[in-house]
Amino acid sequence: MKTIAFYNLKGGVGKTATAVNLAWHAARWKHSTLLWDLDPQAATAFYLGVEGQKSYRAGNLVQGRQSLDRLRIRTQWPGLDVIPADQSLRNLDVKLVESGSPRQALRRLLGPLEKDYSLVMLDCPPTLSPVAESIFGAADYLVVPVIPTHLSIRALEQVREWLEHKKLGRITVLPFFNMVDRRRLLHVEMLVKPPKAMKGGLKTWIPYSTHVERMGEHRAPVGEYAPHTPAGRAFRALWFELAERIGL
Ligand SMILES: Nc1ncnc2c1ncn2[C@@H]1O[C@H](COP(=O)(O)OP(=O)(O)OP(=O)(O)O)[C@@H](O)[C@H]1O
Ligand SMILES: [Mg+2]
Repeated sequence: MKTIAFYNLKGGVGKTATAVNLAWHAARWKHSTLLWDLDPQAATAFYLGVEGQKSYRAGNLVQGRQSLDRLRIRTQWPGLDVIPADQSLRNLDVKLVESGSPRQALRRLLGPLEKDYSLVMLDCPPTLSPVAESIFGAADYLVVPVIPTHLSIRALEQVREWLEHKKLGRITVLPFFNMVDRRRLLHVEMLVKPPKAMKGGLKTWIPYSTHVERMGEHRAPVGEYAPHTPAGRAFRALWFELAERIGL
């Protein structure tokens, strides 16, 4: 089982959109996939058209009084399950600190699911809190959407510094550009000559596209309703590049 966190300290950069699209591609390519929404904004299940989630208490999960397997919901796509977010995730930071071992907590919870999935994807909230530490403790890979702007690059540098500071160098960081608008000079410059922080990242980039914005209307990944558009093709290419990089 490989665990991929869709993470950035910066909000609104496309973590959820990317997690949903790549999870859908993974399942299509017969990798049994679980997507867990760790952000109380709760967008993931909405994008996947999932209703009827089971409410849970983040504190009970962390304390081992509730197990993850009962919270899984099948989506309409074979091989793709989701754990929707719960409002109680707002307290996850506090509960993790109380547990005394935030770094181990998520990994421990995911352990029993190893037999059922080849891929676990985590849709993460934008934070560098104990929740992030817990995510980093569980993840083998961090896929980081970056908008080609200086502030976004700075956020990526901060993530890299934090990982180094916390001695989490074993995690492979895979940044890629999202929301690329080739009419903007800065975007083009960064594509042609990526800043150092993008080193080792994925080469595929996702264009700024109304088809991505419309996921909320279709409540489905772009590949379902616009596979032959630039964004649809880009997510497909991003999936293939990621699968190759992580050895699937
Ligand atoms: N390539 C894209 N082109 C156009 N719009 C996009 C693209 N990627 C994401 N968006 C839009 O940008 C907004 C933010 O995307 P998303 O929710 O995926 O970001 P996020 O990083 O998960 O945000 P948060 O930090 O709030 O969880 C959404 O409205 C989404 O539709
Ligand atoms: Mg999100």
